[in-house]
Amino acid sequence: MFNPLEIKKGLYWVGAIDWDLRSFHGFTYSTHTGTTYNSYLLVDDKIALIDGVKDIFFPEWRERIRKVIDPEKIDYFICNHVELDHSGAIPQMMRLLPKAKLVTNQRGKDNLLKHFFTEWDFQIVKTGDRLCLGKKTLRFIEAPMIHWPDSMFDYLEEDGILFSNDAFGQHYASSYRFDDEVSFDLIMDENAKYYANILWPLSPVILKKLEEIKRMNVPLNMILTSHGLSWRKYQDKAIEAYCNWASGESVPKVIIAYDTMYASTEKIAQALLEGVISGGVDAKLYRLPISDIGDIIKKFLDAKGLLVGSSTVNNDLLPSVAKFLHELKGLRPLNKIGSCFGSYGWAKDIVVKAMENTLKESGIQVVPSSLSFKYVPSESELKQCFEFGRKFALEVKKS
Ligand code: FEO
Repeated sequence: MFNPLEIKKGLYWVGAIDWDLRSFHGFTYSTHTGTTYNSYLLVDDKIALIDGVKDIFFPEWRERIRKVIDPEKIDYFICNHVELDHSGAIPQMMRLLPKAKLVTNQRGKDNLLKHFFTEWDFQIVKTGDRLCLGKKTLRFIEAPMIHWPDSMFDYLEEDGILFSNDAFGQHYASSYRFDDEVSFDLIMDENAKYYANILWPLSPVILKKLEEIKRMNVPLNMILTSHGLSWRKYQDKAIEAYCNWASGESVPKVIIAYDTMYASTEKIAQALLEGVISGGVDAKLYRLPISDIGDIIKKFLDAKGLLVGSSTVNNDLLPSVAKFLHELKGLRPLNKIGSCFGSYGWAKDIVVKAMENTLKESGIQVVPSSLSFKYVPSESELKQCFEFGRKFALEVKKS
């Protein structure tokens, strides 16, 4: 029960598996299988515990550690990130570590104090500082806004292992710990979902940090994440994918997301879909109230185009569309083009203009201008939609 995993001599995974989690960050990021909170125990002349778990997983974390050593012997607890999925159980754990220093950066200390109001024996580190444990040395790399101001990576110099915390992780619960134990497509899909739903708005910072890591010119034999599977075979692919996403690279693909009241907007969506496909571009259609927003956001990560549609109700858009656009605005997708469509009874164009404005505020270039029709679209109006879809496909292919 609650066995640790020895990753290599003296280095153990001692985290926790949250099989039940079904959403993260306020319901929009669906976590269909759950997640893990990865923690690592490094046993050398000195002993370091790296990263923590969510509060309710303290017993599981403690039991895995106890199967390796008596927690009283731990010299350092290294906090790479204060978000509660990693720090919630720190107060309980620190009570078991009477001699441990709590190692973090200044922002980490500030944020821990603001969460737990406890003056632990802090040791403040910054980028480039080293912690010698005996035969092994950890080097610290601050990584602010990946994805909180306090975020930090640690690099185990002798083994070429990067402890990356949230970066390169996935919300994926399984009995496996490494990328080469599951299908490559599965881990990349989960990697994309994590990036799109959590890290996307931080792309400029991530790009700079990736360049900094490349400039370090050190081996990366493993990347040990704080969520889901870690990387010991495809770490280059994981970094390459992050570079592509952070640079806003897209493929010719269109996401069509809509909601409909009496099927008018649905008819427009179907005609647009046919038009885009006829224009030689792959397209996916999602009716928002029955679709998973987290999954749509993942699909949009590398898609060039977005078409969003809504009926008009009370001079406004339907709630499922508003929720989707609200999420999109926060994620600030890079290098995308989009347009809007919908139907109305008497409030002409109000909804498509509102949706267009949100797309613009999200950083999406609106081309060509949007489409909306009164009540039920006629055959000739549906032909216009088809042609609009074909033109949009051309825009996607040329941009
Ligand atoms: Fe996994 Fe930003 O916490």
